[in-house]
Amino acid sequence: MCGIFAVIGSREVSSILGDGLRKLEYRGYDSAGIATIENLNNGQFGKLNIRKSEGKLINLTNLIKKKPPKGHVGIGHTRWATHGKPSEINAHPHLDFSGQIAVVQNGIIENHRTLSEKLQLQGIKFTSETDTEIIPHLISLEIEKSLDCGLSPNGQTLLTAVQKVLSILEGTYAIAVIWSQAPDTLLVARRQAPLVLGFGEGEFFCASDSPALVGFTRTFLPLKDNEVALLTPLGIELYDDFGNRQHRAPSFLKGTELFADKRNFRHFMLKEIYEQPETAQLWIDRFLPMDLPKDNSVALPISKSMLGKIEQIQILACGTSRHASMVGAYLLEQFAGIPTKVYFASEFRYSPPPLSPNTLTIGVSQSGETADTLAALRMEKERRDLTKDSDFSFHQLGITNRIDSSLSRELDNIIDIGSGIEIGVAATKTFLGQMLSFYGLTLLFASHTQKRSHQEISKLSDDLRLIPKQLTDLIKRHDSLSKEIAHLFVDTKDVIFLGRGINYPIALEGALKLKEISYIHAQGYPAGELKHGPIALLDQHVPVVSIAVPGLVYEKVLSNSQEAKARDARLIGIAPHGSESEIFDELFSIPKVSEWVSPLLTVIPLQLFSYHIAAHKGLDVDQPRNLAKSVTVE
Ligand code: M6R
Repeated sequence: MCGIFAVIGSREVSSILGDGLRKLEYRGYDSAGIATIENLNNGQFGKLNIRKSEGKLINLTNLIKKKPPKGHVGIGHTRWATHGKPSEINAHPHLDFSGQIAVVQNGIIENHRTLSEKLQLQGIKFTSETDTEIIPHLISLEIEKSLDCGLSPNGQTLLTAVQKVLSILEGTYAIAVIWSQAPDTLLVARRQAPLVLGFGEGEFFCASDSPALVGFTRTFLPLKDNEVALLTPLGIELYDDFGNRQHRAPSFLKGTELFADKRNFRHFMLKEIYEQPETAQLWIDRFLPMDLPKDNSVALPISKSMLGKIEQIQILACGTSRHASMVGAYLLEQFAGIPTKVYFASEFRYSPPPLSPNTLTIGVSQSGETADTLAALRMEKERRDLTKDSDFSFHQLGITNRIDSSLSRELDNIIDIGSGIEIGVAATKTFLGQMLSFYGLTLLFASHTQKRSHQEISKLSDDLRLIPKQLTDLIKRHDSLSKEIAHLFVDTKDVIFLGRGINYPIALEGALKLKEISYIHAQGYPAGELKHGPIALLDQHVPVVSIAVPGLVYEKVLSNSQEAKARDARLIGIAPHGSESEIFDELFSIPKVSEWVSPLLTVIPLQLFSYHIAAHKGLDVDQPRNLAKSVTVE
């Protein structure tokens, strides 16, 4: 949520800011802005130049091209509105009352109301509705005090003022600050919102996410919580919460595909759907190769000593990651015999269950930056640390696509799903990668608990190895079919998705995908629940998508689908071709696979169905309204 990009060096920075923000646009795209300091009087002081615009980043970049602001230092921001609607006035950077200090912020300042009331009593007038605007005003007041005491206007004065202000802010934030009277200084700080420093040649950067640095530098250093950094064209000084100087070596950013391009696809989402066979193949090559040692069912980086201690599992996640976790919980309980519960991370934090002994806590997050998931994990760690009873120790595991994320830094055990960067806001290939990681954990626990025979474990592994090829066929077929039928649903207002057992989470995921990108109201239900209420909604205007896979609940799902058809609902089936599938008005046929691996396939037509409806409606598939790829506010 919101992207920050900042740079200081010896060349003009306005186009650099535009390039950096372009790589962060997935974090927010309702407005954007930059501020630079134009040097005057031989670098003694400068003049702030501001460019802002409402809407997509392209509006800002056009503005910058037309009227490039001068300066060798600058801060930029792409916004996802929290306080105040998307508008040019609410776009960052925000300025102090003297017009000399500019601030961009990502996060939420929880005590902004109290602080702004105090500032208004002192006669300070606010121009925006944002929580951020208090920050430049507060910094300005602190600077005034220092200057009154005879201090000079320089970077150190700005540093001291920022440190004082941060000590009274509540909430989570990442900020970047410039001051026209210290034109060779850029100040950045973070508390529970991501910020990474980049070391270039004669210039230094700061960004909300490391891929934004690629193209400028690959040498980076993530800021720790509560750290402040002072950047000049000559170097970086790092300070902890108490003002103590910190020294840490930067790292080198690996990976060639850190910033993706669309290739020949119309949208990133479609390209990412098409990348799923590769995601699956890479996952299998890494974790489920044919030449595994005999006593290893899977090559996951999890120690046997940790496995031995685990009697139950709790999973914390949001959105699509929670749906993948629900598939995982089904597998872990039903296949591997480990009691497993999935929680909305945002709910867990404020109503956790009573502490259970010998519990593995898994945090699942594609971005590794989701504030709700990180906060829930931190809370769980804290309350377990407090018991000091080893049965209640915090056994932790993270599943993420971003090995350089906060989640990866904060947890000791990580499964990197390795799906490659995902740009479309709607998660597709990373959902598949997350599910595959749960298949891996299931194989691991099933052989550890000996709940399953060697043959059953081998059968599941063999079925998984067939998935990449099956995905390739499925994507090709269903891409054309969903394109053909998309026009039938353009005016649809409500859609119901049904699934049972291991495919119930896929019904939820199908509904979420449709909502997110096509703005059609959609709801997923366990098929057996239909008759307990939702059936009242059905008529010829409410299509029902039903996932019916041969196995434990096949006949039941077919009966539930019949009940919908009897109410005139148009029935869309995700099912194998056969005499039973004749009940469906439209059929997305899937191969006859074991029910255990079926979610890896049944999700494909749902992704394509949503994609083509949204594309047909001419909507912005990759950047749907009101959403952002990385949700870094609670
Ligand atoms: O980065 P995370 O996996 O933690 O994100 C969680 C949700 O915000 C995310 O899955 C969201 O629901 C997606 N837009 C789904 O397509």
